[in-house]
Amino acid sequence: MRESNAWFEEMNRLSLHLYDTSCASKEWGISFGASLRDRERKSGLPPQEEAWLTGQLFLAANDTPSTSLAYLVLAIVLYPSQFITARQQIDAVVGGSMPCFEDWDKLPLVEAIMKELLRWRPPAPLGVPHVTSEEIRYGKYFLPKGTSSVANIW
Ligand code: HEM
Repeated sequence: MRESNAWFEEMNRLSLHLYDTSCASKEWGISFGASLRDRERKSGLPPQEEAWLTGQLFLAANDTPSTSLAYLVLAIVLYPSQFITARQQIDAVVGGSMPCFEDWDKLPLVEAIMKELLRWRPPAPLGVPHVTSEEIRYGKYFLPKGTSSVANIW
């Protein structure tokens, strides 16, 4: 309990910091924190919840792609020949430019590598915990309202 209180304080501090930074940011054009803050006047969301919403978005977006990229480097080291072929495919399709979504259908090996990377080492293998807001029947399972569940993403 003492440990989770300390985690809460740390998350709270971080979320407030990210929220303040986001609200103060002029670089982004539209700041997520500032747009929440302006909407809050209509929705009545307490500032601390806005801060956590902002913080969660930053945290959810930060660790996941960087974890996948780290595993991509590991995969390249383990299976270099596949990546040489993928690189040849990219070069053949887009030449010296960066690939974009219009090239997607012409890059099946790149798509396969990306999907396999997320299957092989998903950055959030157990997702995030959820709780049922109403009772659910799913196949042979019955989950009463208020049941905690953790999805096995892996
Ligand atoms: C490799 C990249 C990513 C992976 C593998 C990934 C994976 C996941 C997973 C497994 C969940 C939990 C789903 C659940 O159990 O309901 C989740 C939730 C979430 N992710 Fe990502 N994510 C990635 C990138 C991002 C990015 C870039 C953003 C934001 C820009 C983001 C924002 C979120 C948010 C806000 C949630 C919570 C959604 C909710 O509350 O229902 N994620 N993500």
